[in-house]
Amino acid sequence: MKELRIPNPFGGRILHIEETSSTMDAARQQVLSPSLSGGESAGMHGTVISTSLQTAGRGRLDGRSWFSPSGQSLMFTLILSRSRIPVPVTSLSIRSALALVAVLRYRFGLESCIKWPNDVQIQGKKISGILCESAGDDLFIGIGINCAQREFPSSLKRPATSLFLETGRREPPLDMMEDLLSSLKRHFTELPSEELPASAAPELCGRGELVSIFEGDPRRGKRVEGYVEGIGISGELQLRQINGKIKRIFSGE
Ligand code: BTN
Repeated sequence: MKELRIPNPFGGRILHIEETSSTMDAARQQVLSPSLSGGESAGMHGTVISTSLQTAGRGRLDGRSWFSPSGQSLMFTLILSRSRIPVPVTSLSIRSALALVAVLRYRFGLESCIKWPNDVQIQGKKISGILCESAGDDLFIGIGINCAQREFPSSLKRPATSLFLETGRREPPLDMMEDLLSSLKRHFTELPSEELPASAAPELCGRGELVSIFEGDPRRGKRVEGYVEGIGISGELQLRQINGKIKRIFSGE
């Protein structure tokens, strides 16, 4: 594990592991045994664990994985203390997606949108996935961004894209880390809850379109239909149902 000399607005260290099962596991391990990297247990807030290769990268739903050939994606987990985050924890996934959409726009000139709850897409193709987990006071924000991929396996269930495929630019994945952390910090601390709906609505994929959502656990959840209306202050999706009423969905697919 080596410490990267990249400025981190959250104030923590950025630790890079060449290979790990998942940065989510490595981050949890750091919190349990900070001495592994010479850190102190009290001060993990703001620490970032990044990697070049995950052997068991995971996605939001059980059994969903995140695979990337070595060095082709930016993959990291940001460790935060719940008590030091001034906004609802449930909104962190959508705030992370907003942060990423902003960076893709100003750094690469790319228009992307948020596929609620945790994907960022460009014209229907996934470029990034976000996974938020927690354990007690510790929050783990895991982000994967496809950077250098020239193609994706045909076995992939959903279409995907990468920064290279969208821009033709070959940027080392870690080069955008500083911009992304700054954007995350702004969206976590400077965007008041009451402004989240107005900021998030224009960035949603399929706004105004009729969608069918599995509310809660997709294997057991009940199906809800409605028109994509916006995002609420807690990060929930707002659907306008056929009867005109707004349905708020806090988790689903
Ligand atoms: C999803 O698509 O459902 C979320 C994907 C999240 C992938 C990132 S890569 C860094 C971090 N480590 C993981 O194992 N997952 C997240």
